Amino acid sequence: MEITLLIKNANQVVTSRGASEKPLSGTGQKALTVIEDGAVAVCGETIALVGSTAEVLDKIQVDDSTKVLDASGKVVLPGLVDPHTHVVFGGSREHELALKLQGVPYLEILARGGGILSSVEATRAASKEELIAGGIKSCQQMLAQGTTTAEAKSGYGLTTKAEIKTLEAIKAVDRAQPVDLIPTFLGAHAVPKEYKENPDGYLDVVIKDMLPQVVEKNLARYCDVFCEEGIFSVEQSRRVLMAARNLGLGLKMHADEISPLGGSELAAELGAVSADHLLVISDQGIENMAAAGVIGVILPGTTFYLCEDHYAPARKMIEAGVPVALATDFNPGSSPNNNLQLIVNIACLYLRMTPPEVINAITINAAHAIGRSEQVGSLEEGKMADLALFAAPNYDYLAYRYGTNLISTVIKKGKIVVEV
Ligand code: NIG
Ligand code: FE
Repeated sequence: MEITLLIKNANQVVTSRGASEKPLSGTGQKALTVIEDGAVAVCGETIALVGSTAEVLDKIQVDDSTKVLDASGKVVLPGLVDPHTHVVFGGSREHELALKLQGVPYLEILARGGGILSSVEATRAASKEELIAGGIKSCQQMLAQGTTTAEAKSGYGLTTKAEIKTLEAIKAVDRAQPVDLIPTFLGAHAVPKEYKENPDGYLDVVIKDMLPQVVEKNLARYCDVFCEEGIFSVEQSRRVLMAARNLGLGLKMHADEISPLGGSELAAELGAVSADHLLVISDQGIENMAAAGVIGVILPGTTFYLCEDHYAPARKMIEAGVPVALATDFNPGSSPNNNLQLIVNIACLYLRMTPPEVINAITINAAHAIGRSEQVGSLEEGKMADLALFAAPNYDYLAYRYGTNLISTVIKKGKIVVEV
């Protein structure tokens, strides 16, 4: 086997092996394999061997064509996976900061026609090319911070035309740069102003017009709904998700973020792959998600940015057996951050998750949350050679330092795509 790339002498190679079939939960959430003085050998686009530098050097042939990276003083992780983003959108919302500082709540800004609806206007007005350019720029930022795979939602179009335009833009962004994007249709993200008095009429359009076209054009893998007081009820969410499931899409939910409506229970009932946010999840919701194996995708950057004083009960969820993943929720309103490294800090400090639990939450469990666990999320022979090298003496250091991009090298499908 020809070794095209060899990373050797890493202070630590950190990964969770043997978890590609099932997400890690309970005490398993913190199961990490840490190889001191580690090495990873790559053949083309895939990982050929992972082990100590001595072991790997003993087993492989290195010749002039092998690119060799000395990773002394570095920690090697699987390329990071961000399982919840709204990375393609028009405009930005810095003007809402003043309202926020005056104490106007997030849902009140939306009720006044701002918030998500202001991004809807900007997204409708943008050309597909403009959306693609913005998406590429954001993906380049993500890549520079270690993210090599991400989920990407529509949901700022809210007409059939603008939702399709967004999903086509997501597909184009996926092809134009190294970060792999997994597309999610989020037509039920808000009630657009044309349907203010008739939300169920809007859901008819989502179900009868948008969903069939999205599926027919093969533009999404998942369907998501914003299940929230004043947005879509549990009943309305069920309607949309059941229609999506009948068409073969996987299910996700924005659930139990601001009001405890019971979105988590619905996610468990319908066999969703994940329920996301979960700040006010009930004990019943936790129990049902654990029993159904629904992944809890926690978005603590959003809680931070919305200045909420109550974070999702991550410890309770882990103890109850809910597999936990973490994501940025990158979007123009509630979380204009696309750096998973910052999520590592917030998750440790405010969710009280330990560094090993957090690392699994942004690698293998995140990969499970977007159906990519067979390809990415851990460093194992045969998986895609996606790696993030950090200028850090050990993995605890990633949770200890904050605000500085610690990436030194990013490798996507065996190619060096970022080098600092
Ligand atoms: O995940 N909660 C709903 N949707 C996004 C926010 C979108 C926005 O504010 O533009 C979220 O936080
Ligand atoms: Fe979101």
